[in-house]
Amino acid sequence: MDPVTRLGVVGCGLMGSGIAEVAALSGIDVRVAEATHDAVETGRRRLIDSLDRGVRRDKLSAQQRDQAVAKLSFTHDLSDMADRQFVVEAVAENRDIKTDVLRALDKAVEDPAAILATNTSSIPIVDLAVATERPAQLIGMHFFNPVPVQQLVELIPALTTSQETVQRTRGFARQLGKQVIQAPDRSGFVVNALLVPYLLSAVRMVESGAARPDDIDHGMELGCAHPMGPLRLLDLIGLDTAQAVAESMYEEFKEPLYAPPALLRRMVAAGHLGRKSGRGFHTYD
Ligand code: CAA
Repeated sequence: MDPVTRLGVVGCGLMGSGIAEVAALSGIDVRVAEATHDAVETGRRRLIDSLDRGVRRDKLSAQQRDQAVAKLSFTHDLSDMADRQFVVEAVAENRDIKTDVLRALDKAVEDPAAILATNTSSIPIVDLAVATERPAQLIGMHFFNPVPVQQLVELIPALTTSQETVQRTRGFARQLGKQVIQAPDRSGFVVNALLVPYLLSAVRMVESGAARPDDIDHGMELGCAHPMGPLRLLDLIGLDTAQAVAESMYEEFKEPLYAPPALLRRMVAAGHLGRKSGRGFHTYD
């Protein structure tokens, strides 16, 4: 199958900027959309900073950085996605926002065979697929944070997704140098179905006063060789995102193990969202 040469990425937060960075480094022309001028500028800065960090850490040459930058363009107008062959949606983990963006993309992208992929962590793919006029060309493509580092992509075909879309999306993931697992269209897919109950258990341990965040994190880092403990990982994911994922899973299964603990909700209400706000279970500069 033909490789993707014109990619769209909608949303340039933690996930979208990582996806755009990896694609541009893979030599793909990437157009990145954000909702407003300011959001475009913040997203552009995040992406360029990450490429610069790659050069400083000797992961990238200055030439690789410059070649990637030359592959990137930015817009706040979804109609600029008209000529894209493949678009990945990576906006906030909110069903209404994702549905609106995918509907708008469906209209904006001219080629009816173009694929729309959603990076949702937990919303049923079929619900998003049937909201568009191209349910056979809509698929879940779930990346992991930080996208430049984590090797995995979960591919989640909806009941409506065609085999051709699955094959083309596998090929695109390979173009990005990612490894693929196929996951079921049930909330949490494979990885979050296992990961989220573990993360929420750690929050409950703090909430009940049973253990301190540092002890919990060190326990899992030193005892089980996890690269980061559960509370540090929650801070990396973003507590608001983690709450949204847990809520979707709870809505689907009604199992108490997926219910976001009150402490998580209160921290989100307080704006203690983790690394991105400078404070979560730990504090950051
Ligand atoms: N871009 C490129 N490279 C990066 C990077 C980035 N944003 N962040 C880190 N790296 C690289 C570093 O250059 C470094 O590479 P080398 O080892 O080759 O030198 C390596 O990653 C480690 O980085 P650091 O030394 O800075 O920091 P660290 O050792 O503490 O690792 C980490 C940071 C990569 C985040 C690591 O702790 C880790 O893998 N943590 C687990 C992350 C995880 O579980 N992610 C999944 C979250 S769940 C999710 O995303 C799904 C969802 O739906 C919620």
